Amino acid sequence: MELMQQDIALGLKGKDFLALADYAPEEIRYLLDLAVELKRKQKAGEVYQPLKGKTLGMIFEKSSTRTRVSFEVGMYQLGGHALFLSKNDLQLGRGETIWDTAQVMSRYLDGIMIRTFEHRRVIELARGATIPVINGLTDSAHPCQVLADYQTVLEQKGRLEGLKIAYIGDGNNMAHSLMMGGAKLGMHVAVASPEGYMPDEGISKNTKEVASQTGGSLLVTTDPIEAIRDADVVYTDVWASMGFEEEQKIREKAFKNYQVNGDLVKHAKKDYLFMHCLPAHRGEEVSEEVIDGPNSVIFDEAENRLHAQKAIMAATMC
Ligand code: CP
Ligand code: NVA
Repeated sequence: MELMQQDIALGLKGKDFLALADYAPEEIRYLLDLAVELKRKQKAGEVYQPLKGKTLGMIFEKSSTRTRVSFEVGMYQLGGHALFLSKNDLQLGRGETIWDTAQVMSRYLDGIMIRTFEHRRVIELARGATIPVINGLTDSAHPCQVLADYQTVLEQKGRLEGLKIAYIGDGNNMAHSLMMGGAKLGMHVAVASPEGYMPDEGISKNTKEVASQTGGSLLVTTDPIEAIRDADVVYTDVWASMGFEEEQKIREKAFKNYQVNGDLVKHAKKDYLFMHCLPAHRGEEVSEEVIDGPNSVIFDEAENRLHAQKAIMAATMC
């Protein structure tokens, strides 16, 4: 067992963190355990600085509160330094290629975190870089958020395998990463989205294949009641993600029967957890009574971004 842990730790050194699909179940569990341990250390006031003298570049092509602050603070706590690089400040914003940017940054930095639009941009960056690249959100995945989310479920429920998570809403980056992460961890994932806003078919197919090997499952439906029935975890996200703001009005119509509210959560287990990656729009995808109610763990999720990302950085950048 000890040797296996060491093998996993060795295998993660220098590895990119682009999507949970690239990680084996035992690697994800290793990162979750490390996140829990780093949280314990931080709360106990134990100084742990494996990244002393190292620097993370943080490229933001979209806005952020949690991702920016938690990566910067996390890097500081691990003994390193983080640089905030907005697209307006970089030559990337004026047409320098991703490849050249990756090559140059690899000469200065020890890791890159990037938040961008098309997923292929993080893949290109990782191809050009000789240092680990971490996906801080793309249009199709948000793996850092999901690692923090499953850490939160583990803390609250004591296990992940066999639990049911229902995601109600847009088949977006959050839906994709929750699906794949849940399947890797042996969970039963149910997604309810309106026609036209379903998760990507290729990702659904891959998720089902993974689930068939781990004892998990994936259900994709248009019926929110079917998805939420007996769920241990209820998750939702905004109806119009970053980059889709101009579709807000059309989406409000398409999603009107998909609000997570008191009537809908009656179909979940009594002790369900309500989760949301934030930022949230109260009165749209979720009612105030649910998001601010006793089952909500939204701020624990937000806090765990710090611990989960410290685990990713400590594992890959050491
Ligand atoms: N959940 C999340 O990624 O939040 P930010 O957009 O504020 O980083
Ligand atoms: N789906 C949302 C998540 C924000 C953290 C977006 O991409 O805007």
